[in-house]
Amino acid sequence: MKSDSLAVKQRYDRIAPYFDGLQAIMEGFFYRRWRKKLWAKVEGTHILEVGVGTGKNFDYYPVDAQITAIDFSPAMLKQAELKKTRKAVTVALNLMDVHSLCYADNTFDVVIATFVFCSVALPQKGLKELSRVCRPGGQILLLEQVLSSSSLLATLMNLINPIIRAVMGANINRNTIKLVKSCGFSYVHIDADSGHFFKMIEARK
Ligand SMILES: C[S@@+](CC[C@H](N)C(=O)[O-])C[C@H]1O[C@@H](n2cnc3c(N)ncnc32)[C@H](O)[C@@H]1O
Repeated sequence: MKSDSLAVKQRYDRIAPYFDGLQAIMEGFFYRRWRKKLWAKVEGTHILEVGVGTGKNFDYYPVDAQITAIDFSPAMLKQAELKKTRKAVTVALNLMDVHSLCYADNTFDVVIATFVFCSVALPQKGLKELSRVCRPGGQILLLEQVLSSSSLLATLMNLINPIIRAVMGANINRNTIKLVKSCGFSYVHIDADSGHFFKMIEARK
């Protein structure tokens, strides 16, 4: 797992300066709308964002919230720092691996991640960390690329996954819903409007 995680980190370090450009079309057509919808669901002011990347969620942060955001790629975090300054966003950015968060149990009202668990080397371990640092009754909010339930699309996604992983560092063929459901949350809801390729997931500790 260590080498898997290292490979993922190195990939994101490499693409960090171009990441926003590479994602621009998907961002404009799909992701932006879903980010807005996800952040509108936030209940609580003490928030942790994991896998913050270049800071694409900054535009949707609630103004009155106390937000901490982590990522394990120094180059992605550097892009987030630049965006934080440019957009005058109030957020504490920390270099950290989601497999072992340095926060105490039950710290945050909300833990949020967008398009992160498609690249985390041990997703179930990471999800359990999200649960650990979330307070009882608190929210885990996720936007995740997942393997389509259509067998034709799933076959295609499995075929092109190695290329996507090599270029973007992410897997498009994970069954993240099953993983979330296996993590012992008291409630898991999948937004019915999220399509074949990505899902909006709300879980409660
Ligand atoms: C596809 S990017 C998404 C970035 C951002 N959340 C967004 O919505 O644009 C995935 C991010 O997860 C981070 N990541 C992957 N594995 C991680 C881990 N084990 N710990 C912390 N961050 C991780 C990567 O460095 C990268 O910034």
